[in-house]
Amino acid sequence: MKISVWAAFVIFIFFFLLLLTIQAREHDHHTQQRERISGSAGDVLEDDPVGRLKVFVYELPSKYNKKILQKDPRCLTHMFAAEIFMHRFLMSSPVRTLNPEEADWFYTPVYTTCDLTPNGLPLPFKSPRMMRSAIQLISSNWPYWNRTEGADHFFVTPHDFGACFHYQEEKAIERGILPLLQRATLVQTFGQQNHVCLKQGSITIPPYAPPQKMQAHLIPPDIPRSIFVYFRGLFYDVGNDPEGGYYARGARAAVWENFKDNPLFDISTEHPTTYYEDMQRAVFCLCPLGWAPWSPRLVEGVIFGCIPVIIADDIVLPFADAIPWEDIGVFVAEKDVPNLDTILTSIPPEVVLRKQRLLANPSMKQAMLFPQPAQPGDAFHQILNGLARKLPHDRNVYLTPGEKTLNWTAGPVADLKPW
Ligand SMILES: *[C@@H]1O[C@H](CO)[C@@H](O)[C@H](O)[C@H]1NC(C)=O
Ligand SMILES: *[C@@H]1O[C@H](CO)[C@@H](O)[C@H](O)[C@H]1NC(C)=O
Repeated sequence: MKISVWAAFVIFIFFFLLLLTIQAREHDHHTQQRERISGSAGDVLEDDPVGRLKVFVYELPSKYNKKILQKDPRCLTHMFAAEIFMHRFLMSSPVRTLNPEEADWFYTPVYTTCDLTPNGLPLPFKSPRMMRSAIQLISSNWPYWNRTEGADHFFVTPHDFGACFHYQEEKAIERGILPLLQRATLVQTFGQQNHVCLKQGSITIPPYAPPQKMQAHLIPPDIPRSIFVYFRGLFYDVGNDPEGGYYARGARAAVWENFKDNPLFDISTEHPTTYYEDMQRAVFCLCPLGWAPWSPRLVEGVIFGCIPVIIADDIVLPFADAIPWEDIGVFVAEKDVPNLDTILTSIPPEVVLRKQRLLANPSMKQAMLFPQPAQPGDAFHQILNGLARKLPHDRNVYLTPGEKTLNWTAGPVADLKPW
């Protein structure tokens, strides 16, 4: 009897200690997760946009949005799907107002990127006419466009070169941003400093990456990172650019030529089924600039805690005023690619650990995703926070009655044809 009480006591103490240890661990884990992250706009990632702005959503005929999606449901899964999910998000968001008189921002739900080739690549050829048609409609049916000529309107234009609406860079530059959108705020994935397709005040967003699919591949966080550098993707665009100088500005070709036989580099064009798991086993993931395909890797790196090595001179990264990319990633100049091995091996372990710790912060990961339904701090909320930080609008955005600054006939003649 006495012995069994003793035994029960010992067992209790044992469990008590065990519990304490687990709690201490959880506590460590928790404080680590709660580490605040701040970008140039301050500690804003966890801001709640509700109450800080009101958005009026124009009601457009379904041919500008729903009908287009019906024709091709693939638009819901490609990397530019944010254009559709942002519309759905706003419809049920508490920042939406049904009274345009009290709105800070106006949103036009037009799916200009949902026109896909059989291979699933978006064709932007009809986008300028479609956008123009939508603007014509809102400006004749409501008084708000004419009041500012778009300065308090935002548009989601996630295509390769945003509202330049072309997938070839020279053509995109030649076209420039659609003249009617000159005063509007653009929400786009494209981000490159000093480029005609990125104007001041635009909000750069991550590309859409399917959250459930990535979640399904999560492996336990204590699996050691046994791969030093990981990359899967094209190095040469053999069809369009056999010399390798234009595609990704030669950065990918340089990675391949210099490191294909280096045992620290796990790089290949073959896309294994263990791709997501492998990223979780890697210390560094390369994000060499491509036309557009580099950016899903950036999202994957953040989600999987694989330090993104960004090889893209003058890039403007998603939500760069809220996310401290310099602290999380490694930036390597395109010309320094041949020294990539030395650059990465000379980063002190404590710096690597700090970046990994920051990447483990759930608010970082949340900001990269467009989950269904939306969650606090996700990419939808970051877009709203970005719009809220631009308020109040400068008084000079309001035109005097009859004042016009936009030229409705500017731009390529073909864009003027009705849609
Ligand atoms: C806005 O201005 C255009 C001319 O630029 C005009 O055709 C249109 O009717 C105006 N809209 C409203 C609602 O008055
Ligand atoms: C508007 O653009 C067209 C085409 O570029 C040009 O011919 C016209 O002169 C411009 N109008 C104004 C008022 O600048």
